[in-house]
Amino acid sequence: MRLRILRLFIFVAMVLNFLKDYLKHRFTSKSRHGTHSPFVYRLTDEVIYDFNVKTAYKSVELQRKKLLHDDSIVHVTDLGAGSHLNKNRSKKVSQIAKNALKSPALAQLIYRLAADTHPKSVIELGTCLGITTAYLSKACPEAEVITIEGCPETAKVAYQNFKDLELENTELQVGNFDVLLPGIIEQQEQLDFVYVDGNHRKDATLNYFNWCLPKVHEGSLLIFDDIYWSKGMKEAWEEIKAHPEVTVTIDLFWIGLVYFRKGQAKEHFKIKF
Ligand SMILES: C[S@@+](CC[C@H](N)C(=O)[O-])C[C@H]1O[C@@H](n2cnc3c(N)ncnc32)[C@H](O)[C@@H]1O
Repeated sequence: MRLRILRLFIFVAMVLNFLKDYLKHRFTSKSRHGTHSPFVYRLTDEVIYDFNVKTAYKSVELQRKKLLHDDSIVHVTDLGAGSHLNKNRSKKVSQIAKNALKSPALAQLIYRLAADTHPKSVIELGTCLGITTAYLSKACPEAEVITIEGCPETAKVAYQNFKDLELENTELQVGNFDVLLPGIIEQQEQLDFVYVDGNHRKDATLNYFNWCLPKVHEGSLLIFDDIYWSKGMKEAWEEIKAHPEVTVTIDLFWIGLVYFRKGQAKEHFKIKF
């Protein structure tokens, strides 16, 4: 009973903190007009705030709708930051689709960022049911999209979704990021686009960032999800921003974008999304 109350207390404190950070971001962030960097202005204007509906969105959102009505049960193996709370629970696919997937607005932003980067390869940490993977695959049909998921049963559902959506450029690897990522990076000549959407722990996030560094280049984009999720994630984000190889960062509250453009003054932007 006491443990339950303590957990509830921690949860409420986390939610309040998150809300405070969100409000602070709303008041201190800018839209495209407060941005003096031509690179960030263009990105904000043409990519981040491009709310036109794209053809590719329709089929992925139809698949999401199916998942939201799918009552089949998945035995979830959680290797992420919430694993101490939710170890190995059975969940309905519909529940996972409701709680763990990026919203359409964010998933479509990831799509536009990927399309704008023109990557030859894409790496995603955290496939879950494969909705953002599908967006990535459709954004870059010429690229090889490698996605990693630690829960075998969730991965099975994602795999079926890839089949339903006829995604041909996507490779799903099942296992722990910590084990699989170093080998995947080693096989890549360079890293063009990496999206980290799982295991939101400070040390793990910094490891993934540091492992990527030897293969990033001037045009690479690394995206970190949930940068305000916890004290540890906020600290990880600050360390990433401060890294000497990082030049531009864009904090969209829900996600953080990291660029390595040469010849550009180091600058950190907060943009409303
Ligand atoms: C937030 S979900 C990803 C959502 C997905 N990108 C989307 O919006 O379509 C995070 C996923 O990462 C997986 N995950 C977390 N930590 C992991 C780890 N250390 N290794 C492998 N998978 C992990 C979880 O099982 C979960 O399915």
